[in-house]
Amino acid sequence: MIDIKNITKSFGSLQVLKGIDLHIDKGEVVSIVGPSGAGKSTLLQIIGTLDSPDSGEIMIDGVDVRRLNQKKLSDFRNRNIGFVFQFHQLLPEFTALENIMIPAFIAGMSKSEAKKRGMELLDFMGLADRAKHKPNELSGGEKQRVAVARALVNNPAVVLADEPSGSLDSKNKAELHQLFFDLRDKTGQTFIIVTHDEQLASITDRTIKMRDGMLEKETEPKASQDAETDAETEMPASQNSGTEVRTDAETGSESGK
Ligand SMILES: Nc1ncnc2c1ncn2[C@@H]1O[C@H](COP(=O)(O)OP(=O)(O)O)[C@@H](O)[C@H]1O
Ligand SMILES: [Mg+2]
Repeated sequence: MIDIKNITKSFGSLQVLKGIDLHIDKGEVVSIVGPSGAGKSTLLQIIGTLDSPDSGEIMIDGVDVRRLNQKKLSDFRNRNIGFVFQFHQLLPEFTALENIMIPAFIAGMSKSEAKKRGMELLDFMGLADRAKHKPNELSGGEKQRVAVARALVNNPAVVLADEPSGSLDSKNKAELHQLFFDLRDKTGQTFIIVTHDEQLASITDRTIKMRDGMLEKETEPKASQDAETDAETEMPASQNSGTEVRTDAETGSESGK
């Protein structure tokens, strides 16, 4: 599904990606973890064709995306790649349903079709009764699920998420994570999730560790490791991840709902 060979990227004199090789199969849910500044978001932006590497190859679903011109590339991105960010980035003046419909319009879907698809997704997310609410009338978890629905409206082959649960409390976080796996099982979509959340990383098919612009090592099937990891972990995952300072403003604003 995704084949990356020897990707490099510099910002000025700072080399952020130092030769990344990565293969991800269709239907895999892969997590990317690593310290802040490791280059995770840059790699995700490049996989998502929002940024281009200085050198290297990127094949997505058999398409050599570096060869596409701007017009073809934005079309490719709109149809094949869905993005979920840490903060939902919904447009405040539009309802949940309208936010979901916008990428569908861009892809040329008719209004009635986009509406039908949007409602299907809201239904799947358990949010059918929130369709007409604007983002500021939704809780943090609801907003993030609407953002996931928006990412899925064009049925992309690949969903890229950059710290998608970073602004959620533990219950909403667990629900969002479960949603990714439900979607993969239902649609066969490929998920690449940058996360600081150890619990999420521990349940993905594969965890890729990134440090200083390089991929460190990969851990393979989790099932056999879970028991050991649990026994060794001194601190619950929730204490060293997820409850980050920057999320306070957002969660604070939800607390009255
Ligand atoms: N557009 C940019 N211009 C200059 N430096 C950048 C830019 N984007 C990222 N960087 C730098 O690249 C490094 C990696 O950033 P990033 O990919 O966001 O890391 P991570 O997501 O792992 O925290 C950081 O040192 C960051 O400051
Ligand atoms: Mg980042």
